[in-house]
Amino acid sequence: MSSSQPFGIDFGGTGIKGAPVDLSRGDFANERVRFKTPHKSTPRAIADIFVELLAAFPACTGPVGVTVPGVVRHGVVHTAANIDRAWIGTDADALFTAATGRDVHVVNDADAAGLAEVRYGAARGRRGLVIVTTLGTGIGSAFLYDGVLIPNSELGHLEIDGHDAETRASNRAREKDNLSWHEWAKRLQRYYRTLEQLFSPDLFVVGGGVSKQSAQFLPLLDLDTEIVPATLRNNAGAVGAALYAAEAEMVRGTDRGLPTSSP
Ligand code: BGC
Repeated sequence: MSSSQPFGIDFGGTGIKGAPVDLSRGDFANERVRFKTPHKSTPRAIADIFVELLAAFPACTGPVGVTVPGVVRHGVVHTAANIDRAWIGTDADALFTAATGRDVHVVNDADAAGLAEVRYGAARGRRGLVIVTTLGTGIGSAFLYDGVLIPNSELGHLEIDGHDAETRASNRAREKDNLSWHEWAKRLQRYYRTLEQLFSPDLFVVGGGVSKQSAQFLPLLDLDTEIVPATLRNNAGAVGAALYAAEAEMVRGTDRGLPTSSP
């Protein structure tokens, strides 16, 4: 392990996983460490866990990327559909940087997975518009155009047939409503067809834990767009978060800022 390797943390509803990431391979450089997500998962409680998690890798001092299942703009969390509402309005970059003494960069969980899939996984080298969706507790989405992320697309909350889409088509909805693969596929069909009509993507990538069973449901979909399972599976969030943090540090390290409005 090189000490400057970035560290990726995936903060999810059931577990918090992290490890240093080898960006040349897009994989963990060391075996990851996992903590159970506490029942009351406030930002403060999560910060304490991050401190413990990072302490397990004292030799790694690189930047830290963290996934959050909500809209993140410039380090501030704006929504909390499936997490404690205390996250809303929290400057998570500042909180975690202060708590850990490390440079922490927070990114939406699906955006992190999307970055990882486009750099190392199922969408590697693909041009045009790739939409990565994660089917889990909610539905996450990442928009990538020619490999560049357009963050916070939040396509899980499209209103379709009068419903918030993720309440019908997420993996949690499949489990809650006890749906067979065929029944769930009908809902997925409606969902992906809507995305297709709205955005005309070049590729859909389907991630989330259930993607390892993609053979049960992807062949049942009838779409005009190619649709493939994610390949990084469980590691996509943490790997993508580490990549995000490393790139954020690179941008910070250059003098090339965006042009300002005044000369
Ligand atoms: C949240 C998204 C998140 C997705 C997957 C949705 O409910 O609004 O921000 O990416 O769940 O966790």
